Amino acid sequence: MTVPVITIDGPSASGKGTVAALVADQLGFHYLDSGSLYRLVALLAIRRGIPMEDEAVLAEAARQLPVAFADGTVWLDGEDAGDAIRGEEVGMGASRVGALPAVRAALLERQRAFRQEPGLVTDGRDMGSVVFPAATLKVFLTASADERASRRYKQLIGKGESANLQKIKQDIVDRDARDAARAVAPLRQEPDATLLDTTEMTIDQAVDAVVQWFKERQ
Ligand code: C5P
Repeated sequence: MTVPVITIDGPSASGKGTVAALVADQLGFHYLDSGSLYRLVALLAIRRGIPMEDEAVLAEAARQLPVAFADGTVWLDGEDAGDAIRGEEVGMGASRVGALPAVRAALLERQRAFRQEPGLVTDGRDMGSVVFPAATLKVFLTASADERASRRYKQLIGKGESANLQKIKQDIVDRDARDAARAVAPLRQEPDATLLDTTEMTIDQAVDAVVQWFKERQ
């Protein structure tokens, strides 16, 4: 029997990572936050001064990425990089390196290797379209840009950081536009993906919907 996979793709700040991690928890499955791989490549590029358009060097960095997921965080060469990859500069950098075909190719097999018993829940932009085209369940999770900006704003304020709602919304809209316009693996809802618009939903309701759909497919 093939190992089940649930893919949750969608735009930035939609809450897909939170939902994906909770679904994985409920089902006892592994969880892969694919965006963190692109973010790590961007972080390395910033730290090493690699231009964001140097495809060959960035692809090599992606191939050799010394990444480990453990203890609820992501480790880069033994350093807890969980906080360092969350910033907006790294997010925008991830969106730029993610537009490079050689970087995407370098990360492909690495992502597929996470499909292990008893199952995998993964979130990103192309998990259902490119990485796991035969996934058991494909979800396209979104929310209005205003709602996504407001969630990110509350998250930052909750962490005691300063935040500007208008700027956050503009960053979200810009990043989505870049992710949707790129030639390789653009952000879009696959015809066989189920739409989950969480604008008016709680996290628990979204998690329940995904778990329910998955059970119906078993
Ligand atoms: O999901 P997250 O915001 O962490 O992703 C950061 C960036 O990485 C996205 O804006 C997108 O450009 C890129 N990405 C991607 N493919 C994925 C996951 C993320 O291109 N599967």
